[in-house]
Amino acid sequence: MSTSDKSTTEEKHTVTVIDNKSGRQFELEVLSGEMGPDVIDIRKLYQEFDYFTYDPGYTSTASCDSAITFIDGEKGILLHRGYKIEELAAESDFMDVSYMLLFGHLPNAQQQERFDTEIKHHSLVDEQLIRFFNGFRRDAHPMAIMVGVVGALSAFYHDSLEISDPKQRHLATIRLIAKMPTIAAMAYKYAIGQPFVYPDNSLSYTGNFLKMMFSVPAEEYVPNPVLEKAIDCLFVLHADHEQNASTSTVRLAGSSQANPFACIAAGIASLWGPAHGGANEAVLNMLTEIGSVDRIPEFIARAKDRNDPFRLMGFGHRVYKNYDPRAQVLKSSAHAVLKELGVEDQPLFELALELERIAREDEYFIQKKLFPNVDFYSGIILQAMGFPTSMFTVMFAIPRTAGWLSQWHEMLGDPVQKIGRPRQRYIGAKPRKFVPKDERG
Ligand code: CMC
Repeated sequence: MSTSDKSTTEEKHTVTVIDNKSGRQFELEVLSGEMGPDVIDIRKLYQEFDYFTYDPGYTSTASCDSAITFIDGEKGILLHRGYKIEELAAESDFMDVSYMLLFGHLPNAQQQERFDTEIKHHSLVDEQLIRFFNGFRRDAHPMAIMVGVVGALSAFYHDSLEISDPKQRHLATIRLIAKMPTIAAMAYKYAIGQPFVYPDNSLSYTGNFLKMMFSVPAEEYVPNPVLEKAIDCLFVLHADHEQNASTSTVRLAGSSQANPFACIAAGIASLWGPAHGGANEAVLNMLTEIGSVDRIPEFIARAKDRNDPFRLMGFGHRVYKNYDPRAQVLKSSAHAVLKELGVEDQPLFELALELERIAREDEYFIQKKLFPNVDFYSGIILQAMGFPTSMFTVMFAIPRTAGWLSQWHEMLGDPVQKIGRPRQRYIGAKPRKFVPKDERG
C-alpha cells in the first residue's frame, strides 16, 4: 500500500491511499487544526475499507480534538490556551493557571477570588478517610497511597459522582484540586510518623501545602515566600502537557463514563512509571548513583549501549526534539532555591549541570535530539527543600490534576466523544481444537 502526496479537490483537502495488492484507492479527508500538523481522518477506514491503522505508542495518532495545550516539539514551544509557559511561570500562579486550563480564559479578579475561595472550602478530607492511611504500611510508597486514597474519594463524595450533571462535575473538580495537597501531605506525614496537619485557609494553595508538609502542631510555621513561589512555579510548569500517557489514561477511563475520582486515580497510576512522572525520582536516584563528576563518562557510555537497559533519566521526550522549555525554567529556579537555602554549591546540582553539559556535547544525544526534560532539574529543587525522593512524583500529580480534569471536561463536552476502544493486529493462534486435560502431553 502506498500513500500519495496530499492533494486538494475543490475545498476538501484529501490524501489518496492506493492499495497495491487489490488496486483499490481510498480517499481520506485531511483536517486542519489552528496550529501543528494536519490530521488524516481515518474514522471510516475500517467501516468502508476493512483496514485498521497500526501505531503502537500512538507516535502518529491524534486521539482527540483539544483546545487546551499546544506543543511544538521541534521548536521547544509549550502554550496553554495560547499563553507561553515561560510567561505563565514568570507572571501567573497555579490557581490562575488552573482556572485558565479549566475555563479557557484567564480569570478576572472576581472570578479568581471565587475560585480560590471554593478551593479553600474543600481542602479538608472526610474524617473517616483518615482511617484509610492506617491500612498502609509505614514504608508504603506515597504514590501507592495516592492511587488508593484518591480512588477512595469516590466512596465518600456521592454527591459529585453523576457526570451528566454539570454542577456535580464542577464540585468533583474543585474537590480534587483542593484535596490533592491535603492527601499528599498526609501520605508524607504518615510515612514519617508525624500527626496530620489540617489545611490553613489563610495561606495560598502552595503555602498551605508547605505547611501541611513541614509544620508540626508544637511550632509556628510561616512558609518561606521564595520557596513558596518556587513550588508554585513548579506546579504551574506541571499543570498540563497535552495528550501524554497519564492524560490519555484519564480520558480513556473517563470515556467509559467512570466517575472523576476513579479517572484521576487512573491518571496517578499511569504517571507513576519512570518513563513518565516517575522520572523525577529516578533522576535523583541516578545522580546519587553516579556520585561524582569523574563517573559521568561511565554512565553516558551505559546510556548509549544498546545492550544496557540504562537510560539517562530526565533526558529525551516523545514530543520535544529541543530543550524542554519547562526544564529551562526549572534550571533557573534551582539556582534561586539553592541560593535562598544557602547551598549554592550543592554537589548533586553541580553533577546535574555537568552531566547535561557532557551529554549535550555527545554525538549520540545530539543526533537523537535528546535534551533535558521537565524531570531533570525538578528533583534538585525538591530535595534541597526537604522533600524525600519518594514524594517527587506526588509533586507532579498534585498540579497535573488540574490538567487531567480540564482534559476530562473537554472530552465529556466533545460531541464526537465515544468510549475509547483501540483495535489490534492479531498475531496469535488460528482456531484449533481444544485438548482435554487428560490428553495433554
Ligand atoms: N537515554 C539514552 N537513550 C535514550 C534516552 C535516554 N534518556 N531517551 C531516548 N533514548 C534513545 C532510545 O534508546 C532510542 O534509540 P534508538 O532509536 O537507537 O532505539 C531513541 O533515543 C528514541 O527513544 P524512544 O524510546 O524511541 O523515544 P520515546 O519517545 O518512545 O520515549 C522517553 C521517550 C521520555 C520515554 C525516553 O526518552 C526516556 O525513556 N527518557 C528517560 C525517562 C524520562 O526522563 N522520562 C520523563 C519524560 S518527560 C516528563 C513526563 O512525561 O512525565
